[in-house]
Amino acid sequence: METIIRKIDAANMTSDDFAEAAKLLREGKLVAFPTETVYGLGGDAFDPTASARIYAAKGRPSDNPLIVHIADIAELERLCLNVPEAAYLLADKFWPGPLTMIMKKADCIPKETTGGLDTVAVRMPSHPIARRLIQESGIPIAAPSANASGRPSTTKAEHVIEDLSGRIEMIIDGGSSDIGLESTIVDLTCSPVQILRPGYITIEMLKEVIPDVVYDRAVLKREKNDNIVARAPGMKYRHYAPKGELVIYEGESRAVVEAVYSAAAEKLDGGSRVGILASEEMAREYRSRLDRRPDKGFGAVIEVVGSRENEESIAANLFDCLRRFDAEETPFIFGECFTSDNLGAAIMNRLVKAAGYHIEKV
Ligand code: TXA
Ligand code: MG
Repeated sequence: METIIRKIDAANMTSDDFAEAAKLLREGKLVAFPTETVYGLGGDAFDPTASARIYAAKGRPSDNPLIVHIADIAELERLCLNVPEAAYLLADKFWPGPLTMIMKKADCIPKETTGGLDTVAVRMPSHPIARRLIQESGIPIAAPSANASGRPSTTKAEHVIEDLSGRIEMIIDGGSSDIGLESTIVDLTCSPVQILRPGYITIEMLKEVIPDVVYDRAVLKREKNDNIVARAPGMKYRHYAPKGELVIYEGESRAVVEAVYSAAAEKLDGGSRVGILASEEMAREYRSRLDRRPDKGFGAVIEVVGSRENEESIAANLFDCLRRFDAEETPFIFGECFTSDNLGAAIMNRLVKAAGYHIEKV
């Protein structure tokens, strides 16, 4: 299949820009589109065949439910049963935006869309292109992240092209996603309300609306071998992983620099290429140490993910960095841990998974 790539400028768009995409969606075809978190792979949420095609295009297990995207709060009553008061309070504060809420599903949502569950995840994105696409197509859009299953999520159209070109009808290129990590997911069907996936909307922010909200235990999991099972089916799969083997180091920052550098140097000594996932603050240190080697660090690739002083920069670049290591074909990657406060909870949740829980304490 030939995938149409359509560039849309959010600052200057008209209905015409969306006519073809909206038509494709109404016909049960697939269109990838930008959101403020990551790119989504969209299909008609009411059409079981469209959902099946989404799973096939991603190579995703079909027990892993999709998020349904809406542009109008009135849709909640149509898609969900017994919408709780908390949903309206949260929507009031955080929608449109990077928050997904799980509720009991209404019959109009087929089980194919919810991976067989009787609950549905709903989100109202704030990205102008996503909103307009939902409005112009006139249907709720089921969309997982627009990456091949297991790979890092996509934050640029180029990433989507890499993973899904030839497998879907259209990709809308709307530039880079601002936030760069997937939405926060809260489950409103349990009491207290649980966070199934941390994201840009932090637990502190949620507590202002729902004081007793807690993390699902799996969110904070650090050990591969403990028996906690994630309640969001998608969170149990190998995820976000670069092709190379990633190890992250945790501890006091001097010790971490030392450990990351030594691990990288050992791989270079063994004749292997190696990647270093570095904060802006530490990148200079790695570079100057590598420069002092006889080989000048040839074969080492440093990717700067962002500043330790600015968590948003790290969130925005993380998936792009992991993908760049794939392009550089580094079989080993070493990196720093970040703090788990605020947005750091979401960053570390993705990083720990990308590393397959391989964390070295130094
Ligand atoms: O930011 C986002 O949420 C992006 C953009 C495109 O909106 N979407 C996204 O979708 O990250 P996806 O499919 O990659 O992740 C959805 C997660 C999965 O872990 C899935 O298991 C969980 O949400 N989920 C969806 N419906 C659920 C449900 N009814 N119960 C529990 N978990 C659910
Ligand atoms: Mg995903």
